[in-house]
Amino acid sequence: MKNRSLVSALDLKKREILDIFDLADEIKKGRRLEIGRTVALLFFEPSTRTYYSFNTAAALIGCRVIGFQNPSRTSTKKGESLQDTARMFVGYGADLIVIRHSRAGAPLYLSQVLDVPVVNAGDDSREHPTQALLDVYTIRERFGDLDGLKVGIMGDLRYGRTPSSLAYLLSNWKVHIDFIAPDLLQIDKRNDSLEERLKRLGVKYRKREELDADIDVLYVTRVQRERFPDEAEYERVRNSYRLDPSVLPRDSIVLHPLPRVDEIPPSFDSDPRAWYFRQAENGRYVRAALMAGILGWSDGQ
Ligand code: NCD
Repeated sequence: MKNRSLVSALDLKKREILDIFDLADEIKKGRRLEIGRTVALLFFEPSTRTYYSFNTAAALIGCRVIGFQNPSRTSTKKGESLQDTARMFVGYGADLIVIRHSRAGAPLYLSQVLDVPVVNAGDDSREHPTQALLDVYTIRERFGDLDGLKVGIMGDLRYGRTPSSLAYLLSNWKVHIDFIAPDLLQIDKRNDSLEERLKRLGVKYRKREELDADIDVLYVTRVQRERFPDEAEYERVRNSYRLDPSVLPRDSIVLHPLPRVDEIPPSFDSDPRAWYFRQAENGRYVRAALMAGILGWSDGQ
């Protein structure tokens, strides 16, 4: 991963994913690294988990954090270009840029114009590759191997950026994916080529309106209100999917990238199948391991 950008979950080979997971395991067990570099977090869109997960991940590997979480208080408001803003942070010593942006393609663009690696922390409805890394890490933590698992990805598959990255990352294993959504929010309605790509990758999947009880992992997502062009359409689908614990197998787990709105009732949080808070915590270890790899850390050091 040394000096590489991570724009799409498709940028990662299986070996690289497993290396990140191995280091994340060690960091989770208490290993600390002293890399001594600087990470810039440029968050142009609201975030709680992802921002603080990167922020506290940097601390685990001995890195300093600069940047912002609230673009309304930066010169972006004065019309400064994305490239100029990012360049300035490189000038202030950033060895790695982490960007979240409401324009699809912003992380790719920055990776092409900057001399430092860029990590995509979510771009519009397109991708969120580090979220997918922690999702798959959590599935692996529960089941050991992923081959043969049945994964249901449910909710807003049209405007969500976590379902696309998760499906791409899962394509490295022999999993079966059920995409569960009302027609309006299905993967074929997306503004990217997710479905064609999955076909090309040979991913086995079905599109369903209802949850099939035969499932190992249920990945629930929020209906992305802020990305709907039409509020009335949002109102029509907002309550499409609520988790019904009675249809879930006893050995399954439920994941959610969070924040949730009302897809999962808080009463389910104490259920042993509710793995979403553990999943969020894992984000810190996985992002620490990813950044360590990009910043060139290796065990020989
Ligand atoms: C997700 C996102 O920002 O795409 N959140 C996150 O990063 N954990 C999901 C969402 O906002 O619904």
